[in-house]
Amino acid sequence: MNTTAKFWDKLAPRYAAMPIADEAGYQKKLEITRQYLQPNSEVLELGCGTGSTAVLHAPNVKHYLAVDCSSGMLDLARTKAKDAGVGNLDFEQATVDEFRSPEIRFDAVLALSLLHLLEDKEAVISRIHGFLKPGG
Ligand SMILES: C[S@@+](CC[C@H](N)C(=O)[O-])C[C@H]1O[C@@H](n2cnc3c(N)ncnc32)[C@H](O)[C@@H]1O
Repeated sequence: MNTTAKFWDKLAPRYAAMPIADEAGYQKKLEITRQYLQPNSEVLELGCGTGSTAVLHAPNVKHYLAVDCSSGMLDLARTKAKDAGVGNLDFEQATVDEFRSPEIRFDAVLALSLLHLLEDKEAVISRIHGFLKPGG
């Protein structure tokens, strides 16, 4: 396990218990994101954390794949998805660098509160762009 994953594993329970700092801002962000999502959308979220956003968006799309490097975060996310009864949401443990896009390409890729943590944002954005369908 790499040090980043260890750091987030340790933080996961505390992160999950933290209230959203700016609820109005979060709601606005959800609303803006929804405008890009369709019922037939294939969506990828990188750095999904405890899955709160994934659980809210997944019911509006065809399939949602949520990825995070931390197993601690993903354990909480899986429980959240199960409790919410969201069935079209899968989770995968990987860093952004490790993640290999499956055969399908995505209509939308989300990375929320993640890019500032990465060393080479430009390289990651360029890779993420390769995961998108044309026009995604
Ligand atoms: C600040 S939290 C944001 C979580 C969630 N996106 C949100 O908005 O609440 C950052 C998340 O990114 C994950 N993360 C950090 N570096 C990562 C990397 N290189 N690859 C994949 N996930 C990473 C952490 O485990 C953590 O869950």
